[in-house]
Amino acid sequence: MSRLIKRIVAIPGVRKLWARFPIGSVETRVRYDAWERPHYAYGVYSAADLARRLNLPAITVIEFGVAGGNGLLALERIAAHVGRDLGIDISVFGFDSGEGMPSPANYRDLPYVWNRGYYRMDRPALENKLTNAKLVIGDVTQMLQSFNAPHPIGFIAFDLDYYSSTKGAFRVFELDHLPRTYCYFDDIIRPEIACHNEYVGELCAIREFNCEHSDVKLCPIHGLRTMRLRPAGWNDQMYAFHDFLHPLYCVNVNRPEHNQLP
Ligand SMILES: C[S@@+](CC[C@H](N)C(=O)[O-])C[C@H]1O[C@@H](n2cnc3c(N)ncnc32)[C@H](O)[C@@H]1O
Repeated sequence: MSRLIKRIVAIPGVRKLWARFPIGSVETRVRYDAWERPHYAYGVYSAADLARRLNLPAITVIEFGVAGGNGLLALERIAAHVGRDLGIDISVFGFDSGEGMPSPANYRDLPYVWNRGYYRMDRPALENKLTNAKLVIGDVTQMLQSFNAPHPIGFIAFDLDYYSSTKGAFRVFELDHLPRTYCYFDDIIRPEIACHNEYVGELCAIREFNCEHSDVKLCPIHGLRTMRLRPAGWNDQMYAFHDFLHPLYCVNVNRPEHNQLP
């Protein structure tokens, strides 16, 4: 059966159609990437599944960098589907300046790719379309000083483009979170002219964060590509924030059927 589905979804356009007309279980659709943003679906589903295994009733998911809002709208739709399916209450937040990109602080912000005023938001238009997600408007670093997540944070999409904004957004890890929080980094691959590397941009913020902390680390999900039915670019953009001293870090969340080999 799964081979047949794999063949069918390999036909151009079928996956997009499946994302528009969601039939089948949420888990199956996550497995086959049948979502408008499969990387968001994977992150939200994995976080909600982890919460369920830890007997936690609710999580928070966040998008840093909202712009026009297509990502946040997708995130709230995905959270509604996944939350209903797994019985987890999911709160959704989107952080943005509301005025587009600030001025780049220095070369680490890749000013040869992005600049002040890019990606402005039409706030009233977006607020009209949002159903559950809440906007947090202002500079991320400042807004995080007074932000309270209602539930442990389980998934974060980082899409602030700049090194300096991403570094500021890492304050979010001081808030309550799951022992492993799923993170998607949008700006570590494209565009090609950025020539992304760990001395500029989001990769630089991640490297510095890991150098500055020993009990918490941001790590790629090693080999994710090999575990997916359909390897995709986003697999390399998915990280987990590990909090090794979290009281639930060592709770065994493996399924009982996986604790013996035939
Ligand atoms: C590429 S856009 C986000 C696109 C969106 N995630 C999507 O998928 O449609 C980047 C956004 O980050 C926001 N941003 C960058 N630095 C920021 C900062 N320091 N504080 C608040 N927002 C910031 C900009 O306003 C811009 O809208």
